[in-house]
Amino acid sequence: MNFREEYTEKKNQIEEILKEFLPPQEGYQKIIMEAMEYSLMAGGKRLRPMLMMETFHLFGGQGAAIRPFMAAIEMIHTYSLVHDDLPAMDNDEYRRGRKTTHVVYGEDMGILAGDALLNYAFETACQAFDREPQQSERIGRALRILAKKAGIYGMIGGQVVDVKESGKRVSGEVLDFIYRLKTGALIESSMMIGAVLAGAGEEQVKSVERIAGKIGMAFQIQDDILDVTGTAETLGKPVHSDEKNEKMTYVVWKGLEESGKAVERLTQEALEELRKLSSEDGFLRQLLISLIHREK
Ligand code: IPE
Ligand code: IPE
Ligand code: MG
Ligand code: MG
Ligand code: MG
Repeated sequence: MNFREEYTEKKNQIEEILKEFLPPQEGYQKIIMEAMEYSLMAGGKRLRPMLMMETFHLFGGQGAAIRPFMAAIEMIHTYSLVHDDLPAMDNDEYRRGRKTTHVVYGEDMGILAGDALLNYAFETACQAFDREPQQSERIGRALRILAKKAGIYGMIGGQVVDVKESGKRVSGEVLDFIYRLKTGALIESSMMIGAVLAGAGEEQVKSVERIAGKIGMAFQIQDDILDVTGTAETLGKPVHSDEKNEKMTYVVWKGLEESGKAVERLTQEALEELRKLSSEDGFLRQLLISLIHREK
């Protein structure tokens, strides 16, 4: 199997897991379950659950505790996108190749669908206790990471500064802070949880956090590049959103060429540290390399 085939197979497996954990569409509040499915089951790359699973395997992880966490991280990521697109935030109308959630379900349900995905992510992750009761200690550690990296010291914190600084020319230091939190934190969370659930040691988890931090930074810089050079058709979301919102981005700061080099450099640094954890030239390495020149 080549890399693309393997990626597609793993992506399909992740989508099966997501379907398994989505709530049944019933009750007076049925519309919110529909909106959750609408946003979650649209075409995303599923990068975060994939990184979680691959890191879990890297450390020889076994058992079913990982599955609810894979669903949970994709729910949190999806909620961040639903809210990021709201009129009060980036005000974008397309996401993952379809009209974004607030356009279809209304702004009220868009906000609630985001809230619902965030809360349901934790309800879902807690199912790991039922599936692997003897692994409660690791599951507790994983939950703590999931919570912190999504919050004010993680993704939300990054979005706050991103929104607050729109229209201003922020320093490189602040820009790094924004990227490290708004995008890096959930990628760190994904890989760290994979490591923790597999039983990796403290130092190994710290190393995974550094690797994921670099990957997250590279990922956001590439996202900024694609906002300028990509097409809405390929990306499944609007281009020139950053310009519209007067966002200070890496591309504005350093230009396209330097930004591309930064993506490459950060990824190489991450791969170098990864090599110290495992010399295996497996799917995870190929996945990280594929992100350097991704077109969506
Ligand atoms: C988009 O994330 C938001 C960023 C953090 C740049 P992805 O590019 O992973 O979006 P999906 O999940 O594939 O839709
Ligand atoms: C958002 O960054 C990152 C999130 C935490 C949602 P962007 O605003 O650049 O993401 P896109 O381009 O809309 O996906
Ligand atoms: Mg944004
Ligand atoms: Mg946006
Ligand atoms: Mg963007």
